[in-house]
Amino acid sequence: MTNREEIERRRTFAIISHPDAGKTTLTEKLLLYGGAINQAGSVKGKQSAKHAVSDWMDIEKQRGISVTSSVLQFNYAGKCVNILDTPGHQDFSEDTYRTLMAADSAVMVIDAAKGVEAQTIKLFKVCTLRHIPIFTFINKMDREARDPFELMENIEEILGIKTYPMNWPIGCGKEFKGVFDRNTRKVLAFSSDGRANGVKKVDETEAELGDPALDELLTPYLHQQLVDEIELLDGAAEEFDLDKVLRGELSPVFFGSALTNFGVEPFLENFLRLTPTPLARVDSLTGETVDPCRDEFSAFIFKIQANMNKAHRDRIAFMRICSGKFERGMEAFHVQEGKNIKLATGTQLMAQDRAIVDEAYAGDIIGLFDPGIFSIGDTLCTGKKKVQFAGIPTFSPEHFARIEQKDTMKRKQFVKGMEQIAQEGAIQIFREVGGGMEEVVVGVVGVLQLEVLEYRLNTEYNVEIRMQQLPFEQLRWVQNDPDTYNLRDLDLTSDTKAVEDMKGNRLLLFTSDWAVRWAETHNETLKLSEFGNI
Ligand code: G4P
Repeated sequence: MTNREEIERRRTFAIISHPDAGKTTLTEKLLLYGGAINQAGSVKGKQSAKHAVSDWMDIEKQRGISVTSSVLQFNYAGKCVNILDTPGHQDFSEDTYRTLMAADSAVMVIDAAKGVEAQTIKLFKVCTLRHIPIFTFINKMDREARDPFELMENIEEILGIKTYPMNWPIGCGKEFKGVFDRNTRKVLAFSSDGRANGVKKVDETEAELGDPALDELLTPYLHQQLVDEIELLDGAAEEFDLDKVLRGELSPVFFGSALTNFGVEPFLENFLRLTPTPLARVDSLTGETVDPCRDEFSAFIFKIQANMNKAHRDRIAFMRICSGKFERGMEAFHVQEGKNIKLATGTQLMAQDRAIVDEAYAGDIIGLFDPGIFSIGDTLCTGKKKVQFAGIPTFSPEHFARIEQKDTMKRKQFVKGMEQIAQEGAIQIFREVGGGMEEVVVGVVGVLQLEVLEYRLNTEYNVEIRMQQLPFEQLRWVQNDPDTYNLRDLDLTSDTKAVEDMKGNRLLLFTSDWAVRWAETHNETLKLSEFGNI
């Protein structure tokens, strides 16, 4: 296969959802259909299998969760599929957001009984930053579900994206009999064998709408209901428009049940048909797009995972390849450092195993052993003309704590530990405007990161800390010019605090949405942003 063929068969996406909507179950079923695993149940099981993949920290073992996200790769119908896992439960963190920067599309899993939930909204917002296509999988149709028309309305109203049902559910709960594919105009009736436990692929029977056999397969009532609903749908205004899908303005919607496998394969097939090949990224030096199929290699680092192996205090830097081909041992120019480096070992997660990668292509994600040379947002490239991809934005933390060391004699270790952990991107650190490191405010996206911080300072830097959680919930970067815009003159609620980050950017910490709105409405010229350094 040529490099171009290899690149064009790649599909790289992230699955996003609110906890418990079924992300893990759907991922596992995609692997099942992709032949990467033989039996469902091997990825799930938070106590066992997940650890095989990212077993790197005691805290993770104790909790039975994975602290950082990983990548799974499999082949299906000639395509090479990369699924980026976005941690969701207590392990929700900034990495969850950063992972979305490496994806070319997102699959949003929604619980059919609950509709759009809080975490879905946050993740969706980050996807819209990049205007990537967002596909919707409405899951758990084998349970009592909300009316499908109502679910579509719920997505449109809350997320502000148009929807187009690619298929339509026939019944729900115990009566969930199949889906109608609006593209082929065929009914896919699922055999009830799959319902038993969902460990094997499901059997499907295909029939045309109106076929008398469907009265038997679905019941005459459900058949008639389907005919009526499809008529209603076809009359509805929104047309399918692939360009709108690719711009992230229209979300193709699929109904199914990951648990019973109903609707998983039709989803996978249609999704892979519609989701883009590796997207061209923009070189921020010239503003030009970098063709993924060009010969020269380029990539950026979007995540750094520390101490995966405790025996060596190494880190793994995850890079997304944007163009060309990676070969183990190759040399590349590290743009931020301004020097050539050897990309010695690449690792990749194939289903449950971590493997050494000899070659990889644009669209792929691999982990590089990092002796401490990489930072999030770094670009690597080969060729005469260097490129540089835009940095990864800093996302607004949602939990804050004041941190001080117990033993003031260990000041050096404390500062070093805090700075290194912040540099990996696990936490953000702030100080009083113009202040030092005596009192540090730490901000994190997921509350577990605070525990991770305490644990790591203790075990890796031998520093004990006192931590006091602070009531702030929101943070905004101040965009106004620091030389001319004085924060002291602002009209703010008394519980709002001004701080600066390690780069000297100024920020405001707020205790509520209400306080943010106060600041915005009472200070006309104040410019605030939810994301830093875009
Ligand atoms: P998450 O990764 O989004 O957090 O969700 P996960 O897949 O872990 O699923 C959450 C729960 O919902 C699991 O049940 C899972 O079995 C169930 N589930 C997922 N998809 C479906 C579906 O299509 N239909 C139904 N009825 N249930 C579904 P659990 O009891 O929390 O875990 P477990 O005991 O099954 O492991």
